[in-house]
Amino acid sequence: MKTKGALLWEPGTNSGWSVEEIEIDPPREREVLVKLAASGICHSDHHLDDGVIPLPWAPILGGHEGAGVVTEVGPGVTDVEVGDHVVLSFLPSCGKCKMCVGGRSNMCALGSGVLAGTAPDGSHRVHARGKGVGCMSYLGTFSPYVCAPLDATIRIDRDIPLDKAALIGCGVPTGWGSSVYAADMQLNDTVVVVGTGGVGINAVQGARHKGARNIIAIDPVEYKRESALRFGATHAVSDYAEAAQLVERMTDGQGADRVIVTVGVAYGNLMNQAQELTRRGGVMVLTAAAPVTQRDVDFDLFTFAMSGKRLQGCLYGSTNSRNDVPALLDLYRDGKLMLDELVTKTYDLEDINQAFTDLQEGKNLRGVIRYD
Ligand SMILES: NC(=O)c1ccc[n+]([C@@H]2O[C@H](COP(=O)([O-])OP(=O)(O)OC[C@H]3O[C@@H](n4cnc5c(N)ncnc54)[C@H](O)[C@@H]3O)[C@@H](O)[C@H]2O)c1
Ligand SMILES: [Zn+2]
Ligand SMILES: [Zn+2]
Repeated sequence: MKTKGALLWEPGTNSGWSVEEIEIDPPREREVLVKLAASGICHSDHHLDDGVIPLPWAPILGGHEGAGVVTEVGPGVTDVEVGDHVVLSFLPSCGKCKMCVGGRSNMCALGSGVLAGTAPDGSHRVHARGKGVGCMSYLGTFSPYVCAPLDATIRIDRDIPLDKAALIGCGVPTGWGSSVYAADMQLNDTVVVVGTGGVGINAVQGARHKGARNIIAIDPVEYKRESALRFGATHAVSDYAEAAQLVERMTDGQGADRVIVTVGVAYGNLMNQAQELTRRGGVMVLTAAAPVTQRDVDFDLFTFAMSGKRLQGCLYGSTNSRNDVPALLDLYRDGKLMLDELVTKTYDLEDINQAFTDLQEGKNLRGVIRYD
C-alpha cells in the first residue's frame, strides 16, 4: 500500500525528518498490518537524528511508540485478528526463550536487532524512492500504517483510548519499570529521579505506586518540575547541587535509597553525581541513553565497591511486556496511572519537525502524532 512516513535520509546530522510517500508491503509470516491511531515522540527517535545513536545505514522510518487497529494479518497469524486493538511494543519478544520464560522478556534476543535496518528476516517491508527503508524498532510508527512483527504486537481491551495506549509502547513502561522493577523500590524509600521528561515522569509514577516516601525530581525545566509535582513527586529542584542539599537534609546525610537517571542524554559526569546522591547499599538505575561511542565515565570506583551500591542498567523498564502492558492499562482504567495528562500536545505527521523542536526545548512531557 502507498501511504506516508517520516524518514531520515542522513541520520546523525540533525537534518530533520522528511515526510514523504512510502510503500508498505503486505504482512508476511507472523506479521500484521496495523492502522495506527497515534505515535508518541520519544527522545530515542531524536537520538537517531542527532547521532547519539549512530546508524550505519539509511533511510530510516522513525517512531516506536504506537497503538492502533489490526487491518490485515499475514500467514500463520492466529493470536490476533482483524479489528483487534493492539499496542506495539518497541521490543519484540518470542515468548519461548530462556529470558522470556524466565520473566525477562525485555532481554529476549529478538530485541537485540531492532536497529538492524531491516525486518527481523533481513528483508524490507517499507520502500521509498526505490530504496528499502529500515524501521525504528522493526516498527516505524511515524506512518499511519505499520507492518509489525507479531512478536511486538500486544492485544488490548477495546475500551482503552488508543492515542493514550500508544504511550505504553515505550515511555510509560520504561519509566514506571525503572522504579518498580529495575530499582526494586521499597516502601518508604527516598528516591531521586534525574530528568522528568516522558520517561522520568513515569519513574515518578512508579515510585509513587511502590509507596516511596520522598520523591525528588531534578529537571532544569520549570514545566517539568511542576509536572513532576502533579505526578507524585514530593519535591522538585532544578539541579544536582540543590538535590544534594535536600537529600542530605532529608536523610540525615545517609543519601537516597534509589536514584534513577532518565535525562535526555546520559553523559559520563552524571554517574558520579548519581552515586553521591545514593546511600550506602542503595541502587542507581541508568535508563537514559548515552552517546553510543562514549567510554569515559567519572565514577568513584573505590566508594562504589566499599559502600555496596548497585548500578543497574535498564532497558524498557526491565518490564515483561505481555504481562506489563495489560497491567499498566488496568492501572490506568482504575485511576492509578496517569496517561491522559502525559500528552502535552498533539501534532499532524507533517508537523513532526516542530514536535522534535518542542521536545528539545522541553515543552512537552510527551508530544503525540495523531493519525485520525
Ligand atoms: N532504556 C530504555 O529502554 C529507554 C527507552 C526509552 C527512552 N530511553 C532514553 O531515556 C532518555 C529520556 O527520554 P525521554 O523521552 O524521557 O526524553 P525527554 O526529552 O522527554 O526528557 C528528558 C528530560 O531530562 C531533562 N534533563 C536534561 N538534562 C538534565 C540534567 N543534567 N539533569 C536533570 N534533568 C535533565 C530534560 O529537561 C527533560 O525534561 C533518553 O536518553 C532516551 O533515549 C531509554
Ligand atoms: Zn522510546
Ligand atoms: Zn524470547
